[in-house]
Amino acid sequence: MYPCSNPELVAAVSEAGGLGVVQPISLTYVHGHDFREGLRLIRRLTAKPVGMNALIEQSSRSYRERMERWIGIALEEGVRFFVTSLGNPRWVVERVRPAGGVVYHDVTERKWAEKGIEGGVQGLIAVNDRAGGHAGGKTAEALLDELRPLGLPVVCAGGIGSEADFVRALRMGYAGAQLGTRFIATAECRASEAYKGAIVAAGEGDIVLTERLTGVPVAVINTPYVQRLGTKAGPIARRMLRGRRTKHWMRTIYALRSLWQLKRGLLRDAPRRDYWQAGRSVAGIERVEPAGDVVRRFASAWRAAAA
Ligand SMILES: Cc1cc2nc3c(=O)[nH]c(=O)nc-3n(C[C@H](O)[C@H](O)[C@H](O)COP(=O)(O)O)c2cc1C
Repeated sequence: MYPCSNPELVAAVSEAGGLGVVQPISLTYVHGHDFREGLRLIRRLTAKPVGMNALIEQSSRSYRERMERWIGIALEEGVRFFVTSLGNPRWVVERVRPAGGVVYHDVTERKWAEKGIEGGVQGLIAVNDRAGGHAGGKTAEALLDELRPLGLPVVCAGGIGSEADFVRALRMGYAGAQLGTRFIATAECRASEAYKGAIVAAGEGDIVLTERLTGVPVAVINTPYVQRLGTKAGPIARRMLRGRRTKHWMRTIYALRSLWQLKRGLLRDAPRRDYWQAGRSVAGIERVEPAGDVVRRFASAWRAAAA
């Protein structure tokens, strides 16, 4: 998660038996680590496998080159699981498969899954309408119905805050779950206490989608700041986001601005001036606790349900 995944959180999830996922921009720009050194820090905290998220939206050439370098370093440091999102994952698959790497691709509908499969991905992560971050438009049930016939493992992303939610997703037929919001409200996450407390206090109705952060809908807590600004992109931005030539330019502006806004919002106790990303899974999150306890609690609930 950008900006919430600090090395201690990633390591704690993996150490407990989950698969912590490194977000490179979060690791470097927000948490201040050189990418390779950050991975080595995680390695000192756990010997278990970790993954890496590659946001591969077609933007600038320099971003693409940087992502290629990050993937190369991750492979050298022993990472073998990659989660791609937002673009065509083919080049990532071509880069990591020869090294024994596995790529799972975030999708919100079948057509993106088919593109990913053409590109050689080995699993799909179904991002549903309850997810934190860039939410999808479909329910967990509808997405599974669309994606299961494609024959790859399908992981559920969105709406899983409690062990009951987790068990429900696996019972539905999902192969696993990708959690974001639940892990912000943990002891290891470096988010401010106010942000964590807001996740614990929030119910489903407190989550809204705003276009003002990145130009496309992102799930956030409806803080006084969000209420004051509204959730729609302004008229000029909207026109530029539609234009063929101006669209990439506008997206880049949004992306850079949101990186800065979210970094600032992570550490400050200022609900009147910040964006706090969270999904509808807030409904099942009742306390701040160690990330390892969450993983173990969820795993034992599934073991008990499956017994
Ligand atoms: C604060 C936050 C940041 C996120 N950042 C990313 C990201 O950088 N890359 C990505 O692929 N998904 C990102 N996501 C989406 C998560 O990977 C995951 O799909 C989603 O959180 C699942 O929904 P949940 O929050 O209800 O668990 C983010 C989610 C949150 C809440």
